[in-house]
Amino acid sequence: MGFLYRKLIRRLLFNFNPELVHDAVIRSARAAQNVPLLNSMVALMARAKDLPVTVAGIKFRNPVGLAAGFDKNCEAARFLAGLGFGFLELGTVTLRPQPGNPKPRLFRLHEHRAIINRMGFNNAGAWEAARSLERLLPLPVPVGISIGKNADCSIEAAPANYLEALKVMYPFGDYFAVNVSSPNTLQLRSLHAGERLRRLVEPLLDFASGQKRVKPFFVKIAPDLEHQELEAAVELAAEMKFGLIATNTTVARSSVPERWRSYEGGLSGRPLRQLSNEVLGRTAALAKGRVALMGSGGISDGAAALEKLKLGADLVQVYSGLVYEGPFLVKEILDYLNRSGWRPPHR
Ligand SMILES: Cc1cc2nc3c(=O)[nH]c(=O)nc-3n(C[C@H](O)[C@H](O)[C@H](O)COP(=O)(O)O)c2cc1C
Repeated sequence: MGFLYRKLIRRLLFNFNPELVHDAVIRSARAAQNVPLLNSMVALMARAKDLPVTVAGIKFRNPVGLAAGFDKNCEAARFLAGLGFGFLELGTVTLRPQPGNPKPRLFRLHEHRAIINRMGFNNAGAWEAARSLERLLPLPVPVGISIGKNADCSIEAAPANYLEALKVMYPFGDYFAVNVSSPNTLQLRSLHAGERLRRLVEPLLDFASGQKRVKPFFVKIAPDLEHQELEAAVELAAEMKFGLIATNTTVARSSVPERWRSYEGGLSGRPLRQLSNEVLGRTAALAKGRVALMGSGGISDGAAALEKLKLGADLVQVYSGLVYEGPFLVKEILDYLNRSGWRPPHR
């Protein structure tokens, strides 16, 4: 199936504007998920042997998830679950709807199997996302919801903005990802800094601890952090008991040719693999088993997924790989993990 996608479907889709294609894919997935027979057929084709793993108290049927940003409005989750993912991270959702950055804002670097995006959290807002997701529940896999800040909200007001979005989304997620690492919202990455991160996450954890079901949190970090910032984030995670997702996209351009340097935004896909693996490896070394870890960045095959799991990730996520390798990438990765004899470590 992957062969068919790469030879035929990708060729066709890549004739069109990337954002147009993405929107069409989401619309088609939305329509398809309401046709049970179609859903079952896709699920059958994407089926792989389970590789169950428990992380942060959640049972996953396998460790391969969808990364945030693919289904920003939580509208195609039932179809996406059928592709064999162990979990879906939906969003990033902001409290209020916002249009995102001016277009064009999404670019394919085809020969590098990479993407540059500066979408800027374009989304329909938390209430709309909650409505969509509520209609699709229950889903066969755990759902994470990524939360971000509205562009017109100051850094000082960010904690309240995240908290309000969390309150709307809380009933619908199994875990929450706090996104402080998108390079496309002004100053967002300054929220990584030690005390600022504490002030941001504390009210979220406090809110969760007062709910009937206490759900886990992950903070998604940038691959461009200074070592000291990374160290501080890991220590805070260990102390406050939240997990980390390493990593979001990079603002670095050293892994792609000169002509891409003038494109602002976050780089993802194959050229991100090495950098995000380095950060994941350092994160795991600092965490020493105290922090649940997800690896994201540059997974385009089973070997790249296994690499992250061996570096210490408990779970992995894919985005750009799906664009280049197609929807059956998840099955390809799971078959590879099964063939390689990978088993979740006992933690
Ligand atoms: C078009 C696009 C939009 C994205 N939007 C988000 C987002 O809203 N929130 C987020 O946390 N990450 C977002 N990401 C980052 C991905 O979740 C992922 O961490 C990153 O692309 C690295 O993984 P990859 O190399 O498999 O793509 C986005 C990535 C892309 C390509």
